[in-house]
Amino acid sequence: MAMRTVILLAAFAALGSAFKILARDGTSAAVITSCKKQGDCALTFDDGPYKYHKNVSDTVTAAGGKCTFFLNGNNYACIYKAPYPDYINYSYSAGHQLASHTWSHQDMTDLSQAQLDSEIDQMDTAFQKILGVTPTCLRPPYGNYNQTVLEAIGRRNKTAVIWDVDSGDSTGSTVAQSKKAYDDGIANSDGTMLALNHEVYPNTVTEVLPYAIQRLQDWGFTLVTVAECLGIEPYSSVGEPAKPDFTWHC
Ligand SMILES: *[C@@H]1O[C@H](CO)[C@@H](O)[C@H](O)[C@H]1NC(C)=O
Ligand SMILES: *[C@@H]1O[C@H](CO)[C@@H](O)[C@H](O)[C@H]1NC(C)=O
Ligand SMILES: *[C@@H]1O[C@H](CO)[C@@H](O)[C@H](O)[C@H]1NC(C)=O
Ligand SMILES: *[C@@H]1O[C@H](CO)[C@@H](O)[C@H](O)[C@H]1NC(C)=O
Ligand SMILES: [Zn+2]
Repeated sequence: MAMRTVILLAAFAALGSAFKILARDGTSAAVITSCKKQGDCALTFDDGPYKYHKNVSDTVTAAGGKCTFFLNGNNYACIYKAPYPDYINYSYSAGHQLASHTWSHQDMTDLSQAQLDSEIDQMDTAFQKILGVTPTCLRPPYGNYNQTVLEAIGRRNKTAVIWDVDSGDSTGSTVAQSKKAYDDGIANSDGTMLALNHEVYPNTVTEVLPYAIQRLQDWGFTLVTVAECLGIEPYSSVGEPAKPDFTWHC
């Protein structure tokens, strides 16, 4: 086959999968609740950056895996405040995926159009400044969305990422209950998992995560990023970070 044909075919294949993932009715974002590749588990950690961010990154790295952080700009901590830009660069450099959880963790179905735009764009600005990238994945806070929300996300070519296993750490589950959520998730799994955790709870980081990793790997799961398990790019643009200046505040 001529090289030009090969390239053309590859381009069409890429376009085909892009259209499946991205907008179908103009601007509405696709909503993803599970991984696509058999054997893939995407562990996700919301609501950071916070104190335990590097510990989560290291724990998953030490297990030979990758994970995904859905970050806020101004929630448990201000993303621009030391040491958080360094923490984020640390997990990014370790190959984990950094994605948007909106600027200030509002329920997006409560927001005006202008507020929706601002919640997404302020977060993208922070990613531009701190890492020089634009994330393709966004998790709406509380997993709440409606058509207006999906159109705002879709206009920015992002995919809305939900989950299929919830550790329950943000809704009052004990360590034992969170561990059981993983046991049940594995028992009921169709061979993929997209699991919700929060990097802001010490129990999640020191108790639940090591247990989950052990169980998942014993079962034969590979720990990958959300982008990897969906077969999409984690970032729609990758450039250089900016230098900290007076605009780095919350
Ligand atoms: C994470 O923190 C816990 C508790 O402080 C510690 O036992 C563990 O070694 C840390 N893990 C890593 C990879 O740093
Ligand atoms: C980000 O981390 C990498 C790898 O550790 C390092 O080389 C680079 O200087 C860091 N960038 C910033 C802006 O801190
Ligand atoms: C989504 O929720 C917002 C806020 O309640 C509302 O203004 C908007 O009309 C809703 N959109 C749809 C399509 O229901
Ligand atoms: C979204 O993707 C379309 C098609 O690839 C492109 O034309 C458009 O500029 C992108 N928009 C944004 C905001 O990246
Ligand atoms: Zn959240």
